[in-house]
Amino acid sequence: MKIFLDTADISTIKQWAHTGIIDGVTTNPTHLSKAGGDPKKIIKEICELLLHGSVSVEVTELDPDIVYAQAKAISVLADNITVKIPCHSRYFEVIKRLVDEDISLNITLIFTLTQGLAMCKLGVDYISPFMGRLDDIGSSGIKLVQDMANMRDTYSYNTELLAASIRSVDQLHEVILAGADIATVPVAVLEKAVSHPLTDKGIEKFLADWQALGIRKFP
Ligand code: G3P
Repeated sequence: MKIFLDTADISTIKQWAHTGIIDGVTTNPTHLSKAGGDPKKIIKEICELLLHGSVSVEVTELDPDIVYAQAKAISVLADNITVKIPCHSRYFEVIKRLVDEDISLNITLIFTLTQGLAMCKLGVDYISPFMGRLDDIGSSGIKLVQDMANMRDTYSYNTELLAASIRSVDQLHEVILAGADIATVPVAVLEKAVSHPLTDKGIEKFLADWQALGIRKFP
């Protein structure tokens, strides 16, 4: 299973890229706006930090023809770019055209199983169900991820299931068990998920017990 960071913050990405745990990054217009500065420069920098990972960059236009041109322009910013396009019927033809031209696509803002199926049929690389935002409206984000994993397996689609809008460690753990190919997570969630107070306490205790032995050099 792959883990992506859901951010456009360079210093966070730099810190995690070196660990080898991160397989990619998902940005969106909100992340890039928060990062400030020149989005093109930031995107190129992220792509260089994760040369072997996937970096999702979203279109920012509405008109389908302009979205098509923008997607093509974004796709050539670096070799490891995946273009993010919202799952709206207005873009279906554009998505098909881009897939036919071998542009890597991550279809975002997915909230129904049929939206996911439609995008698998078009042969996109990634589908992104937004869990947290479904939970926000009293629906179940994890149920959608589970149903999509089922659909992907039943019909043997190659499209990867990228669970997004994950806001808590519990949600991340549910996604890991649901059979998602990728979880994209905010850094705060990832930091919390990979640590435990008992790990810290255990390190301290082992160290104290070892020091009581009085051995200077080991082995
Ligand atoms: O990956 C999608 C994510 O950035 C959206 O998260 O918390 O704004 O729903 P959120």
